[in-house]
Formats: sequence, C-alpha cells, structure tokens
Amino acid sequence: MINFQLNNSPVQVDIDPDTPLLWVVRDHFKLKGSKFGCGMGLCGACTMHLNGEAVRTCTLPVSAVQGAVITSIEGLGTPDNLHPLQEAWVEHSVPQCGYCQSGQLMSASALLAKNPNPSDDDIETAMNGNICRCGTYSKIKSAIKSVIKPDAEAMRTQVSMVGTFDPTDGNAISTEANS
Ligand code: FES
Ligand code: FES
Repeated sequence: MINFQLNNSPVQVDIDPDTPLLWVVRDHFKLKGSKFGCGMGLCGACTMHLNGEAVRTCTLPVSAVQGAVITSIEGLGTPDNLHPLQEAWVEHSVPQCGYCQSGQLMSASALLAKNPNPSDDDIETAMNGNICRCGTYSKIKSAIKSVIKPDAEAMRTQVSMVGTFDPTDGNAISTEANS
C-alpha cells in the first residue's frame, strides 16, 4: 500500500509500485489535468509538485512518493480561488491548445514558491524543460513576470543601478545596470 498526500488530502493506493505517478493520479484518482506527452521526462506536460519541487510524473514510480506531499494542477487553485499565476495566465491569454499548460503552471508555481522575485534567467532556467508545441513561451514569460512583486522588482532594479561613489566630492560618478 502506498500512502501520500494528494492536494492536501491523505490518500492510499494498492497498486503495482512501478506504476508512474501520472497514471495513478489520472486513472486511479480521476484527476485528468496533468497530461501525458512524451512519457520520457522530456516535455513537462505531466509536471506536478513533489514536496514542493516540480517533477516529471510520467517517469516517477508511485513507490517513490510514499509519505510525500504531491500537488497536481487540481490542487494549485480552484475556479473560485485561482492561484495568482492562473489569474495571470487568463489575463495574458497564454494557452492556445492548452495541452502543455498545466505542466507549465506547475513549473512556474514551484519557481515562484521558492523565488518570488526571479530574474529573466531564473525564469528561463526553470521553464526550460516545459515544451509548448503552440509556442506560447513569450506569453508564459510575460504572465510570470506580471506576478513578480513590484517592490521586489523595483529593489532589484535599484540594486543593479548602484553607482560608483566618488569620495572626493560625494557624488556618484557613474551608474551601470547589470540587467
Ligand atoms: S509526459 Fe512527462 S515529461 Fe513528457
Ligand atoms: S498551448 Fe498547445 S502545446 Fe502549449
């Protein structure tokens, strides 16, 4: 018997321990938001959170989640209480066919949970393994950037603009942006 938390509820399944978590969630628990794309950990369509980390569930045996906390797209938000990223996805009209989007949202939400003020590079690194055949990448990036805390964003810009201080007259003699 495998026991774990799924979207904040304790669950248990009596199943072949080699069964990929994706199929346990989709077929056993009937939560169909996470998609099967490549089945080889290459496209990100099946991404869920394992103890807060974005993981590919098409290659993750359910035995590996014994005692773990799993969140699928169904646990990210609800229609009445969307996750801020889901609101941003709607505002930016991100999805086209939509097939990749639950995986995209799970990767983006794992990033922001750890780093609420990611740089462009941080976003690109975190989202790198999530493939979108429809090419929604620029809208995904815009949506993620729209939920970055404005104060934190301003502070990072300010830090990157720190000038060189001239001690002879007390004036800043140059400024340079790093990003
Ligand atoms: S279906 Fe899991 S990474 Fe493609
Ligand atoms: S929206 Fe179609 S694959 Fe990403």
